[in-house]
Amino acid sequence: MCGIVGYTGKAKASPFLMEGLKRLEYRGYDSAGIALSDKGIEIHRAKGKIDNLRQKLPRELKQTCGIGHTRWATHGKPSEANAHPHRSQDGKVALIHNGIIENYASLRTELIELGFEMKSETDTEVLAHLIQKCYKGDLEAAVREVLGLVTGAYGIAVMHENEPGRIVAAKMGSPLIIGLGTGENYLASDRTALMGHTQNVVILEDGEMAVIDPDEVRFSTIEAEALDPQVTELKDEVERIEKGEFPHFMLKEIFEQPRTISDSFAGRLLSEEGTAHLGGLDNVIDRLMECDRIILTACGTSWHAALVGEYMLEEYLRIPVEVEYASEFRYRNPVVDENTAVIAISQSGETADTLAAMKEAKRKGALVLGICNRVGSAIARESHGGVYIHAGPEIGVASTKAFTSQLVVLTLLTIKLARIRSMGFSEGKNLVDELRGLPDKVEQVLKGAKEIERISQMLAPHHNALYLGRGLAFPVALEGALKLKEISYIHAEGYPAAEMKHGPIALIDENMPVIVIAPSDDNYEKVISNLQEVRARSGKTIVIATQADTKLQELADEVIQIPHSHPILSPILSSIPLQLISYYVAVARGCDVDQPRNLAKSVTVE
Ligand code: G6P
Repeated sequence: MCGIVGYTGKAKASPFLMEGLKRLEYRGYDSAGIALSDKGIEIHRAKGKIDNLRQKLPRELKQTCGIGHTRWATHGKPSEANAHPHRSQDGKVALIHNGIIENYASLRTELIELGFEMKSETDTEVLAHLIQKCYKGDLEAAVREVLGLVTGAYGIAVMHENEPGRIVAAKMGSPLIIGLGTGENYLASDRTALMGHTQNVVILEDGEMAVIDPDEVRFSTIEAEALDPQVTELKDEVERIEKGEFPHFMLKEIFEQPRTISDSFAGRLLSEEGTAHLGGLDNVIDRLMECDRIILTACGTSWHAALVGEYMLEEYLRIPVEVEYASEFRYRNPVVDENTAVIAISQSGETADTLAAMKEAKRKGALVLGICNRVGSAIARESHGGVYIHAGPEIGVASTKAFTSQLVVLTLLTIKLARIRSMGFSEGKNLVDELRGLPDKVEQVLKGAKEIERISQMLAPHHNALYLGRGLAFPVALEGALKLKEISYIHAEGYPAAEMKHGPIALIDENMPVIVIAPSDDNYEKVISNLQEVRARSGKTIVIATQADTKLQELADEVIQIPHSHPILSPILSSIPLQLISYYVAVARGCDVDQPRNLAKSVTVE
């Protein structure tokens, strides 16, 4: 979703701004723009890719202060007029904004009555005009006054022609990070843009502002109370945000999984005690063990990880575990009390609905935990405790390595809690050992990529696909279907295999490919019966299985074999061929794999 970058210092601002916007491309966007200031303010904007913007830029851009933005349309279609930065009527204010101004319609009407002319359909433009209206020689004061008039979510960065070299930023809901340099300072909505430039950052909290000059940054609340900044160190991970030899980030991230999976459990497996160490839970473990109910809440792929977590936690803890879409949870007055643990799962740590669900759960007295990838993200900060998945930056919009790392962490959580409750040492140790052996098994699955590429071609010409699984393989089926539709635009549905005969079976004919996840577990024979039902109706089948026995070979059009594992780890192994299938199908269909249409990596609006 929308991205923000800013620079003020002694160097030319445009190279940082353009590189920063390029790095934020992965979040999803449909237009981009930059504003540069020295004697006056110069704005360049373009619909579509960053390269369209780059082509429009004049060769010489000497300004040493500027702001840049990638927009993901909410109010008004993607167009140059709706792209940020927006300018005030007098042309002196340039402003970029992430989030949504909820009362923009009434503010817009008031401004039009006062003679302001709107040049865009956006909710953002009103902010630029309001700042012009309130400006009496002090940009910081004008921004403060305007923020008192608006409701909604925002991360904003503003410049005024009369105050060259200065950027005023403020945050409520949408992420903003200030990067501190020597004689130069930076601003970004996402740390990815700052990597390689500075390691010292201040993460703005809701209701905070920053006045950024080349030699100084002043922090305060929107109510003008001065703040002492808490500087945190950004681990430099530049090489992890480069594609290297891979044609797409998604493929690179799929192939990184042996390492990311082992990073997720590194230092956390206690073989001698047959359990897991999760330091982020130390302060809350007593309270967590007293909870009589767990709610897992998330969106998208993370929601599918939560479904796998539900099976595991309920099976081993013997307490009720539910999974809720964060967007539904927050609005339906859920039954939650101080004996409920609400665990939010999020790769980005900034999904607006997940964050709001956590706040709602906290308000009701629940213990709120987070399973996150982004260190120091809003969701991590909102939790009473939690566990990082340590998968490293995920750039492909379709989540892959973060999903498998979320499953690893949910397994660690299950082991840790179950060992305190009723799981015996040998079962715990067995699971710990199985986890240790997992990266090698993932490597084995990846060795079959060429064969999976061949098998995937069968799906490419189709318009629909059905994914089936039972038990732990059901959420894997849902995730497989989501991956396919996200990046190849083939309509795909995931279904519990047994439910197929209650509806989807009507769709099955030779034009309906069916992907069946059939690991060797207690459900295997039943899934094979479901496969027979598909076969009897001429459906084309690809089966992910741990054993390719003759019966299966006869029934399935294609079999992709994965190594044997403990049943609770099989979702990790079976999801990897599904990731590869969606990738190769999308490539065969000529789709933009890393930036699929209309999707955003981090959904920071409700
Ligand atoms: C977006 C992304 C999905 C992701 C979902 C939840 O829709 O495109 O890939 O699963 O948000 O994101 P989170 O960062 O909270 O896991």
